[in-house]
Amino acid sequence: DWNPGNVIADQVERIRAQVGDARVICGLSGGVDSAVAAALVQRAIGDQLTCVFVDHGLLREGEAEQVERDYVAATGVNLVVVDAADVFLDALDGVSDPETKRKIIGREFIRAFERAAADVVAQASEEGAKVGFLVQGTLYPDVVESGGGSGTANIKSHHNVGGLPEDLEFQLVEPLRTLFKDEVRAIGRELGLPEVIVGRQPFPGPGLGIRIVGSVTRDRLATLRRADAIVREELSAAGLDGEIWQCPVVLLADVRSVGVQGDGRTYGHPIVLRPVSSEDAMTADWTRLPYDLLAKVSNRITNEVAEVNRVVLDVTSKPPGTIEWE
Ligand code: XMP
Repeated sequence: DWNPGNVIADQVERIRAQVGDARVICGLSGGVDSAVAAALVQRAIGDQLTCVFVDHGLLREGEAEQVERDYVAATGVNLVVVDAADVFLDALDGVSDPETKRKIIGREFIRAFERAAADVVAQASEEGAKVGFLVQGTLYPDVVESGGGSGTANIKSHHNVGGLPEDLEFQLVEPLRTLFKDEVRAIGRELGLPEVIVGRQPFPGPGLGIRIVGSVTRDRLATLRRADAIVREELSAAGLDGEIWQCPVVLLADVRSVGVQGDGRTYGHPIVLRPVSSEDAMTADWTRLPYDLLAKVSNRITNEVAEVNRVVLDVTSKPPGTIEWE
């Protein structure tokens, strides 16, 4: 019988056997997979594990704090936080092409992670220990997909935060390799991880960087963060988190439209809602959200987010649309 307690006990044994007394490093992205993989390894080897969280400044409202505070409180893990927002935003300055954004974010991520990892290695060697392993939150579908050569990778050069730095010599620890997402969530809950992390819907590695159509600036990020937080809050309040696969919220930063507020004319940006239903993100349909909910979200965004004067709903399936706009 499959049950999370058995999987945890089994993996704890395997991880201990694989790692011995070496030190281990793990990149946390804020997502479910790396969080659960790290928590499993922490359960197995405690202080031999150090996690590294590169904050690229492209996360949604509250997500960095959830890793830095709530996740650490729940697991007791050693965490190194790299605040790299300035580096990422400088590198992204003036860039609007989606694939170029992904490449820059991927490159800067690896640089920041490698620097932090080198510090962890140096620290360990001062203590006479060796860092020999890197934890990856690879799931079964990832294994199948990379072996089977799926189509999407050719359409968008997916960059997964937590990706393997090339010139660091680590062996991999992949405790989730035989598991599906719902099983990973069950294990995360059994390990006592915060529901905001375990229940999180898929979120792309490049984060809000590919949800601003146009170049990425601090102001635009702040605008999108506010709108996205409202959408997530209302979807949760309506009890609809289980219905949707994910709901990208996109800022059309290079588009303006005329609106009216009080006695005045406005000239603001549109926010796009992209709620989708899907089994595996390879195909998707747009989710028929209740009109009342859409009305509430629209009212709140246009009232509470100054730069936004229009909310539009994406009613395209995948294909031909992709889930993200970039
Ligand atoms: P698309 O937009 O290709 O998205 O229909 C399919 C799924 O992949 C996610 N996605 C990404 N995930 N790095 C990631 O880690 C990326 O660059 C990336 N682009 C898209 C998207 O959120 C959806 O779940």
